[in-house]
Amino acid sequence: MADTHRHPFLHGLSKHRGAPPTVVVIFGASGDLTARKLIPAVYNLGVDGLLPADFFLVGYGRKPIPDDEFRTLAADAIKEFSRRELEADVWSRIAAHTSYVAGAYDEKEAFDRLAQHITAIEKKLGRELQVLFYISTPPSVFAPILQNLGASGLAGKYLGQPHHAKVIIEKPFGKDLASAQALNATIRSVFEEHQVYRIDHYLGKETVQDLLVQRFANSIFEPLWNRNFIDSVQITVAEEVGVGSRGGYYEQSGALRDMIQNHTMQLLALTAMEPPVSLDAEAVRDEKVKVLKAIQPLVTGPGGDVARAQYAAGMVGGKNVKGYLEEEGIAPNSATETYAAIRLSINNWRWQGVPFYLRSGKRMARRVSEIAITFRRPPGTLFADGGRFDLAANTLSFQIQPDEGLSLILNTKIPGLETRTQPVKMSFRYATTFGSNTPEAYERLVLDAMIGDGTLFIRGDEAETSWKLYTPVLDYWKSVGRDGMDTYAAGSWGPANADALLAPGRAWRQP
Ligand code: BG6
Repeated sequence: MADTHRHPFLHGLSKHRGAPPTVVVIFGASGDLTARKLIPAVYNLGVDGLLPADFFLVGYGRKPIPDDEFRTLAADAIKEFSRRELEADVWSRIAAHTSYVAGAYDEKEAFDRLAQHITAIEKKLGRELQVLFYISTPPSVFAPILQNLGASGLAGKYLGQPHHAKVIIEKPFGKDLASAQALNATIRSVFEEHQVYRIDHYLGKETVQDLLVQRFANSIFEPLWNRNFIDSVQITVAEEVGVGSRGGYYEQSGALRDMIQNHTMQLLALTAMEPPVSLDAEAVRDEKVKVLKAIQPLVTGPGGDVARAQYAAGMVGGKNVKGYLEEEGIAPNSATETYAAIRLSINNWRWQGVPFYLRSGKRMARRVSEIAITFRRPPGTLFADGGRFDLAANTLSFQIQPDEGLSLILNTKIPGLETRTQPVKMSFRYATTFGSNTPEAYERLVLDAMIGDGTLFIRGDEAETSWKLYTPVLDYWKSVGRDGMDTYAAGSWGPANADALLAPGRAWRQP
């Protein structure tokens, strides 16, 4: 029955991208991300026939949970959050290989028990298994987990062989440069970099991968992709949701740490990097790091490159919503930004003089992520009479979500005996061409980590390069408290202070 829902390319993929026999161990197994994303991702890989025949799932958490109960929780998570219905035969195959180990994160003996648990699975099966650890816990326990994976010998399992142990780490990779460096040092004291898969789920989104294909599998873009033709680039990651029940987390984070430093910077890196010499993970990541390193330090303070704001009460999706300072768990005088906008300059041959504008906010007018490349205006010699000719700058926009697709604004003659022009939008929509049931980011990323393909993961130096850029901004904001914090009505396109980042004649898009 599931066949009709399957992506047409997946069967082909499965032939070429077989994962070795694997046990996935999830730390933080009773957490929100496990239920919403990880279990459904594993299940959907099962539906698509992409799990290895010998696949095992082990949940690990502080709370003692009997195996049966963990399997029930997992089935409930699939029913609630999977993009496809629970099919009994697929789930029963996964469930038969699903178990749970209870233990603290700072308890070496518990990790020894985990090691024995894995060895027992291998003995029963009669073969060795690649172990993929998935650290999906609050960052406060990243270090003890990593250290105990080292101390128990689990991190070095089968090192030197193709099915060596691997570890996936969820964000945040630190909260500033110093903590990111400390985390990387802990990781490297236990794992070799090639074993490490730092997740930024934006890289698993289909449209983000398509950006690489559009740029490098078409010949029309590359000649135009530079300062000679491009006026400016705007990258937007806007959300309708507020902080909801995550106030405790968000107060420590804010838009810059939560979205800009990671997700929007990944979009920027893929948009601005040079063509890599191959699609090999290191080749792609080398180019990303290179372009991140070419970004000029940000100017803070009035008239600088950054703007921040908090949402005030307003209306989203036809409903009245509270302002940030009234949300649960938020300090009444909080200096945490729910919106940040940045102006970046990339000082290299390709981009010098082309501003990159980044913004992200909660409670904005609409949920939309897009990369918009605006080309220089044509010389106004022929169609210059403003009354008759409504000329727009050509803009190529990659819509990451929702309504995934690509569009190009072109100026066109309005049919008629008089010569008048109007901008029109030429669009490609994924859902129209390929159907709408595309894999979720986590499916792709879990599969890639099982296979050992790190292309869509963040390398340690990449995370540090991005923190290096933003740490002075965070320090500055900390030093000035709420000074310079603007507000925007929930449901709007953001604060007025962000407009000051744009050069005269440019405006933030309202996609
Ligand atoms: C997460 C942030 O990384 O990304 C959340 O912590 C945010 O605050 C989420 O809501 C957005 O992801 P997506 O895939 O819904 O755009």
